[in-house]
This record gives sequence, C-alpha cells and structure tokens, in this order.
Amino acid sequence: MHKIYFATGNAHKLREAKNILGEVGYEVEQLDCDYPELQADDLETISAYGARWCADKLDRDVMVDDSGIFIDALNGFPGPYSRYVEDHLGNQKVLKLMEGDTNRKAVFRTVVGFCLPGGEPHTFIGEVVGTISLEERGVHGFGYDPIFLYEGQTFGELEDVKKNRVSHRGNAMRKFAHWLESNPR
Ligand code: IMP
Repeated sequence: MHKIYFATGNAHKLREAKNILGEVGYEVEQLDCDYPELQADDLETISAYGARWCADKLDRDVMVDDSGIFIDALNGFPGPYSRYVEDHLGNQKVLKLMEGDTNRKAVFRTVVGFCLPGGEPHTFIGEVVGTISLEERGVHGFGYDPIFLYEGQTFGELEDVKKNRVSHRGNAMRKFAHWLESNPR
C-alpha cells in the first residue's frame, strides 16, 4: 500500500484523512511538522507554502490540508482566518454575527497541498456548499461542523463516513489521490 505523509497536528483531520484516503488504497502517516501559518488571503497560497516548507525541512514528500469556511452574508469571512475566529470567537459568536440574516449560504473549502523535496507544490481544492444553522447541533466532527448544515443535517450530526463522502476534505483528498494515480512518485 502506498503511503501518504500528512503534516498535521489536528487529530480530527488525521482521522478523516485516514478514512478518505484509506478507501482509495492509501495509508496515511502523520508527520510532526509545524509549518509557519502564512497570513495570506487565500488558502491555496497557505497550503502550497506549508507543503513546500515541510517537504524541504523533512526531505520527503508531504501532504498538508488548509481549510476554512466562507460565509456569504459576511463577504466570505472568516475564510482563511477561520482558525483565528474559532479560537477567539467560537461558533456561538459566529451565530450571533449572523443573527437576523436570511442569507445563510456558506462554503467549506479545503486545499490539499502536496510537495516533493526541492519540487514545486501542487494544490487540490475541494468544496461543499451548505448553510449556517440557527443553532449548534450534533456531537460529531469538530470546529464549525455543528453549525454547517448540509441537506438538513449539520456536519456535527453526521458520522465521519457520511461527512467524508460529501465534505470539502473528502473532495480535495479524492482529487489528490486521483492525480497521484497518473503521477506516481
Ligand atoms: P486549518 O485548516 O487547520 O487552518 O483550519 C481552519 C479552521 O477551520 C479551524 O478552526 C478548524 O477547526 C476549522 N475546520 C477545518 N476543517 C474543518 C472541518 O472539516 N469541519 C469543521 N471545521 C473545520
């Protein structure tokens, strides 16, 4: 089985990646590589930078995952600042910001970055469109999952397997796996 080295400190992302990539024949191994978070306006730049930084530092091929939630009524905020907003405001404050808004549309986006040592990074974008719920729901998942509604259920109400089938991360990682088939290392 081919191995994919995933630089992440996030146990939830790791669990999901193992499930998503395991289904298409890859084994995922976690790497300890805390790359500096670039302050950039788009996830692609951040992801490409992280993948290259880790690949060069560890001298091996590396995958990273940079994700964010883009809320229509907030002009795409928090987007690349999703981590900061979750850490400093949290879901309840996001719901408060959205109070009275009838446009609840939101997009979850993951950009998978992949790089070989000394090489150019490749990026793979996955998205899922949903809405922001009126209250937190569900005990599964992490981060914004309890307020992201997809076809009547929040991601927090979905078991991993169901979320992975439709999620931003699932879509991005399956794209990456597909690319790997025609670009073997
Ligand atoms: P990052 O990719 O680790 O920078 O994540 C950005 C923010 O989005 C963090 O606050 C994560 O907890 C959150 N996040 C990333 N992926 C997901 C997801 O699949 N569900 C819910 N929240 C997520």
